[in-house]
Amino acid sequence: MPILNWIGKDKVVNHHLDVPYRVLEHQYGFNNGEESKAQTSSGNKIIHGDNLEALKSLLPEYEGKIKCIYIDPPYNTGNEAWVYNDNVNDPKIKKWLGQVVGKESEDLSRHDKWLCMMYPRLKLLHKLLADDGVIFISIDDNEQANLKLLCDEILGGGNFVASIPWKGKGGGADNKYLMVAHEYIVFYAKSKTNFTIGEEEKLEESFPKYDSNKKQHYKTQLLRKWGATSKRTDRPNLYYSITAPDGTEHYPKLPDDEDGCWRWGKETMNKALENGLVEFIKKDGNWVAYEKIFKPENGMNTKKYSTWFDFASNNAEGSKELKNIFDKKLFDFPKPKNLIDTLLKIANLSKDSTILDSFAGSGTTAHAILNLNKQDNGNRKFILVEMEDYAETITAERIKRVIKGYSDKEGTTGSFDYYELGEPLFNEDGDINEMVGIKKLRQYIYYTETKNFLESNDTKTDNESFLAKHYDTAYYFYYEPDCTTTLDYQFLSTIKTKAEQYIIYADNCLLTKEFLTKNNIIFKKIPRDITKF
Ligand SMILES: C[S@@+](CC[C@H](N)C(=O)[O-])C[C@H]1O[C@@H](n2cnc3c(N)ncnc32)[C@H](O)[C@@H]1O
Repeated sequence: MPILNWIGKDKVVNHHLDVPYRVLEHQYGFNNGEESKAQTSSGNKIIHGDNLEALKSLLPEYEGKIKCIYIDPPYNTGNEAWVYNDNVNDPKIKKWLGQVVGKESEDLSRHDKWLCMMYPRLKLLHKLLADDGVIFISIDDNEQANLKLLCDEILGGGNFVASIPWKGKGGGADNKYLMVAHEYIVFYAKSKTNFTIGEEEKLEESFPKYDSNKKQHYKTQLLRKWGATSKRTDRPNLYYSITAPDGTEHYPKLPDDEDGCWRWGKETMNKALENGLVEFIKKDGNWVAYEKIFKPENGMNTKKYSTWFDFASNNAEGSKELKNIFDKKLFDFPKPKNLIDTLLKIANLSKDSTILDSFAGSGTTAHAILNLNKQDNGNRKFILVEMEDYAETITAERIKRVIKGYSDKEGTTGSFDYYELGEPLFNEDGDINEMVGIKKLRQYIYYTETKNFLESNDTKTDNESFLAKHYDTAYYFYYEPDCTTTLDYQFLSTIKTKAEQYIIYADNCLLTKEFLTKNNIIFKKIPRDITKF
């Protein structure tokens, strides 16, 4: 597989491991129109801050749990006049590049910079995706080809699904040769084998035939395979005979009488024949076999989505939607809601999936999710990350208005929590930052040990340091901000959980190596043995 190289790549390939882990600092909860200090239990989050750090902060709770990611990163057009900073000369990103890539960053081209910016973010997004999850990335010709190679490297070329063309600005971008009237949505699954694509529900009215045994209307579709691989020589195992109504053996034949093949293997075919799902019709004296497709009970039929989306709206529609909420024009190119709607359907979400947008802008993604939840009584959750200060005044404000209702639109109802990026877990000397608070520290330690999220365990079943038991190992974090802790017989006497193995974090240990080994206890020294990820 070709691998893309660029100046600065060596500095960013493992950078996601060096990103400081910061805790998310809850600012307020918004619960059906009421703002308060209390945290909602909605699971919906808006985070103000650089997504690199925000994504890292989300890992303990969300690694492998995000079903759908939609991102709309800067397209890197070189146009800095927009409200959305559309290239990598945003002062915040410039500063970040300076820190990560160093002096060399001054010599990077805008494409090198963009790739340096995207690489570690995509790495973290990949970790957050569920095994059956998908990622959609909006992009245009400025970086589409680079993005494709980057994704092949990080997400696996085999997991590429499609580059979906979309009308975008609609009119034509600043290409003096052609009116470029489309952009792309690059679409990958975390694992194509684990992902089942959502299909479009379409009202299908032409079921002209009636099966009096099954008492159902149906239509027919040729059972012989058509298209590029329709010959016997292409798929020999799909060439076999079936018995026609007059007892003769019937083989799939192409119009020029060449041997063709069936669309189904023998086993599927036999089942379909047994269940009366095959119809034979005589044409020019020869039998032709058809699949009987019955009208579904609700009259809907599912169809594969085409990459030509079935709606006309473009960015202008997105701007109109935003103007309708705020009564003034805010951004040039927000995405329209129905684009996100379609992507959410393709992603085949369950009603409680979590969807992440880490380049949130005006918050179109959350708007689409709230609408969808309202339509089908779902409980899908959104996580938005926005770096600019309008995270509060536009991103969160839009969602508040959508929840409460605006213009002639009834509110969707719903709640979310708003966060800032808080303290880093470790200070510059590598020591624990006491400002972080014990709850977050406990969650961090438990995650690094088990890759699982520690729910707050209010009902105590063991001593204060007990985290949880996971696969026959009991975990303890014996930590006090103001004094040194020691793993000794006294501490052991307070342990109540029975386990095959014990992992205990403390500042010191007074137990001998022999004693620890004999009793299956692993001592981990704070902060030396705390894993950084
Ligand atoms: C093209 S806009 C997204 C528009 C959005 N899809 C909508 O419909 O409104 C990209 C957004 O990503 C934000 N952004 C860029 N770099 C970021 C970063 N490192 N962390 C978080 N947000 C970032 C920008 O501030 C901008 O609001």
